Amino acid sequence: MTANRPQPRPGVLDIAPYIPGKSKAPGAAKVFKLSSNETPLGPSERAVAAYRDVGEHLEDYPDGSATALREAIGEAFGLDPDRIVCGAGSDDLLNLLARAYLKDGDEAIHTTHGFLVYPIATMGTGAKAVAAPETNYTADVDAILKCVTPRTKLVFIANPNNPTGTYIPFDEVKRLHRALPANVLLILDAAYAEYVRRNDYESGIELVATTDNVVMTRTFSKIYGLAALRLGWMYGPAHVVDAVNRIRGPFNVNGPAIAAGIAAIRDTAHVEHAREHNSKWIPWLTEEIGKLGLKVTPSVANFVLIHFRDEKVANAANDFLMKRGLILRQVGAYKLPAALRMSVGTEEANRLVVQGLKDFLGKAA
Ligand SMILES: Cc1ncc(COP(=O)(O)O)c(C=O)c1O
Repeated sequence: MTANRPQPRPGVLDIAPYIPGKSKAPGAAKVFKLSSNETPLGPSERAVAAYRDVGEHLEDYPDGSATALREAIGEAFGLDPDRIVCGAGSDDLLNLLARAYLKDGDEAIHTTHGFLVYPIATMGTGAKAVAAPETNYTADVDAILKCVTPRTKLVFIANPNNPTGTYIPFDEVKRLHRALPANVLLILDAAYAEYVRRNDYESGIELVATTDNVVMTRTFSKIYGLAALRLGWMYGPAHVVDAVNRIRGPFNVNGPAIAAGIAAIRDTAHVEHAREHNSKWIPWLTEEIGKLGLKVTPSVANFVLIHFRDEKVANAANDFLMKRGLILRQVGAYKLPAALRMSVGTEEANRLVVQGLKDFLGKAA
């Protein structure tokens, strides 16, 4: 009976569906959502005002090229707006890149604990997702290069990576790029670039500007606090921009998102405030959680990966915190079943998680 009904292309039903971070903690008086790396500071007030203004004109189609937004991004980062494409979140762009460059039988490389959208986008095209092993929860350039075959068309790297929070220095990114065949597109996903404070880090702008096979993707969902609006952008060579523009939805970015994005990118004080908040709490969380005897992977992003003895303990800790309204992210789907990922929250949330873990461990002892 089922053989007679429409069938998805081979590979689609092999995809493990993406499971978003939880947002509800039943029974808890106050809930702190620390499961999706959102900013605890919310968006810029100016972005909210711009969003509301567009709300008065919902009958109008948006500008399908998001020209004013591309110009604002270009101005903020010193980039040619013609080399920018906006998307409904960077997810949209990652999927468009996969669709534009992959076909049945091709391969796309991601890393073992890399962002889950990469294998999903890859397999959705009928191509094979190849996982390159990491070293110390960090992308390993040599391991990636060992996975390259004549069928490789894309390499996805999140830098910094989610859910590990680790990064690879610019020299390593350049070494990877140099060793890749010229027909392989290197996608540098810099969703968390704004948070990084390392002299040896570069988000990808320089490589995109100087080569023909590198794309950088960025998002408004993290430091800009506009996750609900679904807004991201990519910067790429003109020929990649042209290919993506041919297949994207003609109005893939909505009007309120365009307006809010322009205001958000111009509110540099708000971004700086969010960066300062993160720079203060990342080391604090790493140290305080470490003092409890738990390993925390050193993070340059806005979240930490906390390691427990095994999967059972991680799940028990998750349940324990959840009862207190503290929602962390289980990362079994990222092949990290014994870990939990926690977004940096407000001071109150951060202190409550540390206290919660202390109580959990005391209770378990
Ligand atoms: C590494 C990475 N890339 C991309 C995204 C997707 O962001 P967006 O909301 O722009 O689709 C995320 C979101 O969690 C992420 O962690």
